[in-house]
Amino acid sequence: MGGTAMTKMIVPFFDLGALARNEAEEVHACIDEVLTSGQFIGGELVERFEIEFAQFIGVNEMVGVGNGLDAIRLALEANRIGIGDEVIVPAFTYYATWLGVMQTGARPVPVDVDHATANIDPHLVEQSITERTRAILAVHLYGQAADLLALRRIADRHDILLFEDAAQSHGAQSTAGMSGSVGDASAFSFYPTKNLGAFGDAGAVATNDPDIAARVRSRRSYGQGTTKYHHVDTGWNSRLDPIQAAILLLHLEKLPQWTDRRRAIATSYRGALSNASASSVLGPVDSLSSVWHHFVVRSTRREEFQDFLRDRGVGTDVHYPYSIMTVQPAVDALRPEDREAHFPVSQTLSEQVVSLPMGPWMTDAQVEHVTTILSEVPRDLLAI
Ligand SMILES: Cc1ncc(COP(=O)(O)O)c(C=O)c1O
Repeated sequence: MGGTAMTKMIVPFFDLGALARNEAEEVHACIDEVLTSGQFIGGELVERFEIEFAQFIGVNEMVGVGNGLDAIRLALEANRIGIGDEVIVPAFTYYATWLGVMQTGARPVPVDVDHATANIDPHLVEQSITERTRAILAVHLYGQAADLLALRRIADRHDILLFEDAAQSHGAQSTAGMSGSVGDASAFSFYPTKNLGAFGDAGAVATNDPDIAARVRSRRSYGQGTTKYHHVDTGWNSRLDPIQAAILLLHLEKLPQWTDRRRAIATSYRGALSNASASSVLGPVDSLSSVWHHFVVRSTRREEFQDFLRDRGVGTDVHYPYSIMTVQPAVDALRPEDREAHFPVSQTLSEQVVSLPMGPWMTDAQVEHVTTILSEVPRDLLAI
């Protein structure tokens, strides 16, 4: 490709339309299967997805639900976490992590994250445990698993529960096994942009405990008991749609190959950034231990860096421009002592992170274009 064509290339941050267009025939076949089945709520496709995804993660039970936020709330409530309880959370994550805790009536207790991974720093967890602490909720941000070995040990030592928000880590290995399989229960989102995404809202709760799975199954469907008009619990309506389940079955088959593609893109970007400040790229040293939900770079001159890329056709986003201390409804839910606390790493990351285009929808030419532009970024724009 010649230089003029290169400068005209546009690489949006996401292009899910491209993904859908590439697999239009297969997706139409999925929808046809649901139409033919006549089963528009629950049914065989939902059950098949639950079984296949449980096998993929390595858990005994998977319960499909409406979205990732509900999955967090259902996982916690099924373990009877609620008013008066404290749940330790990273101070830097997507708002839904904190909101899932807040919706149960429990208080989120923030802990700062590690500067190299953006995941909760296990060294800081124990000092936040009180007699009200019921659980740690770890998040695997950007596709890299949190240190589950350390977190599981802490949880066991203090006889508290460990939950995982695995919305960004489908297929990522942690220090203690596959993310989503180590916690007492784990929440998945299949929001369309996720590594394993539906073409609408969808989520799931993973666990090895059949009683917890049964409680989630009941609560996702009006607290239903064993028969239709038998209600044994509270709850609401948060079921996994069969059309989404059919698409998720299709995408689950492709996930290993999509993860390989993300890793190849990450390797290419890292090569282009190899002489940037060593810590300006967030994530593992080797490209294999992350599933690269996002490829994230840090810059103290974030807007100029984003402008440089935008002027050359490369879209970016920021995940996330806040820490828990700058989201008012979350601050309102904190213990009074936490409202005065400081989380310096979370604060710094919220001011510096930039996500680059990443995903299986990218063409070779798009990856090459972003890689070339990254190699041309003035290094002082990547200083931290
Ligand atoms: C870390 C994290 N937790 C929770 C969620 C919530 O998932 P959903 O959008 O399916 O409710 C998301 C994604 O949106 C997420 O990235």
